[in-house]
Amino acid sequence: MQRNIQLLVLWFCLCGLALTLATAADNTTTITKATTIAKPGCQTRCGNLTVPYPFGIGPGSNCSIGEGFDITCNTSFYPPKPFIGKGNIEIYDISDTQVRVHNVMAKKCYNQTGGLVDYNTASTDLNTSPYSFSEVNTFTVIGCDDLALISGSEQRNFSCGCASVCSKARDVPNGSCSGIGCCQTSLPKGSQYFVASLSSWQNHRDVWSFNPCSYAFLGERDSFTFRGASDLSDPDFMNRTKAKVPLVLDWVIGNQSCFVAQKSNDFACESNSYCVDSDSGYGGYRCSCNKGYEGNPYISPGCQDINECVNPDNNTCVVICINTAGSYNCSCPHGYFGDGQKSGRGCIAKNSQFPVIKFSLGMGFGFLSILIGITWLYFSITRRKLIRNREKFFQQNGGLLLKQQISSNEGGVESTKIFTAEELEKATNNYAEDRIIGRGGNGTVYKGILPDKRVIAIKKSRIMDESQIEPFINEMVILTQVNHRNVVKLMGCCLESEVPLLVYEFVSNGTLSHHIHSRGGISWLSWENRLRIAAESAGALAYLHSAASKPIIHRDVKSANILLDERYTTKISDFGASSIGEHISLRDARVFGSRLTDKSDVYSFGVVLAELLTGKKPLCLERTQE
Ligand SMILES: *[C@@H]1O[C@H](CO)[C@@H](O)[C@H](O)[C@H]1NC(C)=O
Ligand SMILES: *[C@@H]1O[C@H](CO)[C@@H](O)[C@H](O)[C@H]1NC(C)=O
Ligand SMILES: *[C@@H]1O[C@H](CO)[C@@H](O)[C@H](O)[C@H]1NC(C)=O
Ligand SMILES: *[C@@H]1O[C@H](CO)[C@@H](O)[C@H](O)[C@H]1NC(C)=O
Ligand SMILES: *[C@@H]1O[C@H](CO)[C@@H](O)[C@H](O)[C@H]1NC(C)=O
Ligand SMILES: *[C@@H]1O[C@H](CO)[C@@H](O)[C@H](O)[C@H]1NC(C)=O
Ligand SMILES: *[C@@H]1O[C@H](CO)[C@@H](O)[C@H](O)[C@H]1NC(C)=O
Ligand SMILES: *[C@@H]1O[C@H](CO)[C@@H](O)[C@H](O)[C@H]1NC(C)=O
Ligand SMILES: *[C@@H]1O[C@H](CO)[C@@H](O)[C@H](O)[C@H]1NC(C)=O
Ligand SMILES: *[C@@H]1O[C@H](CO)[C@@H](O)[C@H](O)[C@H]1NC(C)=O
Ligand SMILES: *[C@@H]1O[C@H](CO)[C@@H](O)[C@H](O)[C@H]1NC(C)=O
Repeated sequence: MQRNIQLLVLWFCLCGLALTLATAADNTTTITKATTIAKPGCQTRCGNLTVPYPFGIGPGSNCSIGEGFDITCNTSFYPPKPFIGKGNIEIYDISDTQVRVHNVMAKKCYNQTGGLVDYNTASTDLNTSPYSFSEVNTFTVIGCDDLALISGSEQRNFSCGCASVCSKARDVPNGSCSGIGCCQTSLPKGSQYFVASLSSWQNHRDVWSFNPCSYAFLGERDSFTFRGASDLSDPDFMNRTKAKVPLVLDWVIGNQSCFVAQKSNDFACESNSYCVDSDSGYGGYRCSCNKGYEGNPYISPGCQDINECVNPDNNTCVVICINTAGSYNCSCPHGYFGDGQKSGRGCIAKNSQFPVIKFSLGMGFGFLSILIGITWLYFSITRRKLIRNREKFFQQNGGLLLKQQISSNEGGVESTKIFTAEELEKATNNYAEDRIIGRGGNGTVYKGILPDKRVIAIKKSRIMDESQIEPFINEMVILTQVNHRNVVKLMGCCLESEVPLLVYEFVSNGTLSHHIHSRGGISWLSWENRLRIAAESAGALAYLHSAASKPIIHRDVKSANILLDERYTTKISDFGASSIGEHISLRDARVFGSRLTDKSDVYSFGVVLAELLTGKKPLCLERTQE
């Protein structure tokens, strides 16, 4: 059973593997191109910051696209720190459109009587640089008695700001900058300069107990969270916030629009990229790689094609992906059509619909496995039933009795064999019609061939009743003790079938009765041969009656029970266990068994002699009774 299941599983696995192999013929070519970050010979990293062109490390080193993009890497820090230009603005991060830099913060601290004890102004001037304050920044004022203004100048003069007044610490909400203790305002687009100035009405005299200091700063909106009253009294607020909230700057190339810049010699966008105008309103542009390309658009030779076929997540092909410049094409293998797209029609076999094949294969396998399962179940159940029946029959047919007899009769019966039902089924080709060599009132005789090529005759009786079992077994045991050349040899029996089966040596030339009465006569049945047969039969009977350890009465001596082998040697057969005779028996062994003696055998033999002499049938209904 286990082996069957294993085989089944193995078979399914192999089928699945074949299908997978058939559909997974992926054509992907791996071409990895190192993308260029900086100009040749230029440093690409400062500390843990990667500096891509148009930025460049080292003022005057020609590594950047222009003075504004120079970055100073101060190695007196560990790790080294990058700064914008020659200045003191530390850079945290550089992206395609922005840089994040260290913040500045205005601060004013008062004493209890309103005296200014500490202050700090904050301003950032980005004029004549490629940077401007990004819109992601917000101007924030922290305090409960404060007004802060942010002013821009140079390109345009403006001031804006916000005021925050409150009186109790418990009024200040936690977690949001809502206008109580904290206010925020945004900066106009494109601003390049700001100065933050803080002023107070009461110099914090009324709120000093919970808010001695006020702060104003510009920084990334999403990085800052107002913690409420605890921020108002926290002496570390400035250092903590500066470390956490960067200032975000947008950067652009030049001060011209794309349209104008494209005509100039120093247009920065290299091949496979496009130009994007700055939205600050003050000119300048940036470059971006075309769709399907990647790399640095500012540095020769420009953007590189992305091989979308390398990564299955980057393409939508079902089977074959062909990389093209800036894109890829999906295609189908030979014998399939379709767009090859996962979200499209995929690949369909030319003759039949591929999904239908899959579906029907699935159905087929499912159905087949159910069928196999049921068949296997059926056979195992019937087989078990058969085995149970065989055991039952074996006992019912006296198998145990026989075994007992055999073991108590050691030595005499070594040639007796208890055949299994299976062995005999095999030997007779499952009791095939063409194996029948005799049919009679009580049963059928089959010719059988054992695996060792010995030819046997198997007597299969009609249904037997239980009372006949013991005599049957006794007779079997007796017969197996008989070893005479003129007595047909019993080789064994089978008790596993409903009726016991007897296994004899096969005697090839038929019955004496047949030879005497066959039409036309047979030339070999000469006087001498008739005498020899008579003598041989007599000798066998005498042996049975006297020579065997217990007298054996044949009880059914007649010409139909005398067989002739290939050399016409006589073989007495049919010892009454299951007489099969087409002819009317002189008497039925089962009816008269107990009253029959060796004398009745002799009488019957006399009839056989008469038959041999006259060639006439012992019983003939056509003749008169006398
Ligand atoms: C796979 O791609 C290579 C080059 O891209 C091509 O030469 C080859 O024929 C392709 N193979 C199949 C099966 O399409
Ligand atoms: C870079 O270094 C700083 C301090 O040395 C560290 O806080 C930061 O997480 C580092 N950044 C990366 C991306 O490693
Ligand atoms: C930078 O480039 C200019 C002209 O392109 C050249 O005159 C100058 O010598 C270069 N400087 C360095 C340090 O290579
Ligand atoms: C590096 O930083 C230190 C300390 O801030 C400063 O003294 C020094 O001048 C800087 N060096 C350069 C080259 O900017
Ligand atoms: C507060 O500061 C002012 C000016 O700095 C000073 O005159 C005054 O004595 C200080 N008051 C207290 C209580 O420290
Ligand atoms: C800004 O204001 C100053 C004086 O307040 C003035 O001199 C300057 O011209 C103004 N700038 C612009 C661009 O209007
Ligand atoms: C703010 O949080 C602090 C503790 O984190 C708490 O004591 C205070 O009551 C909270 N204030 C408000 C207004 O929720
Ligand atoms: C804030 O940082 C400065 C130097 O960065 C330091 O001198 C000062 O003590 C710090 N303030 C607090 C309250 O930690
Ligand atoms: C643009 O920049 C160039 C130098 O890069 C400068 O000469 C010119 O005046 C600028 N134009 C404007 C309108 O700012
Ligand atoms: C596509 O490929 C690029 C580079 O090969 C990779 O950076 C990107 O994450 C990929 N996209 C997806 C959706 O996998
Ligand atoms: C890719 O597909 C398009 C349209 O389907 C076709 O015009 C183009 O020639 C194909 N390119 C390659 C390299 O197969």
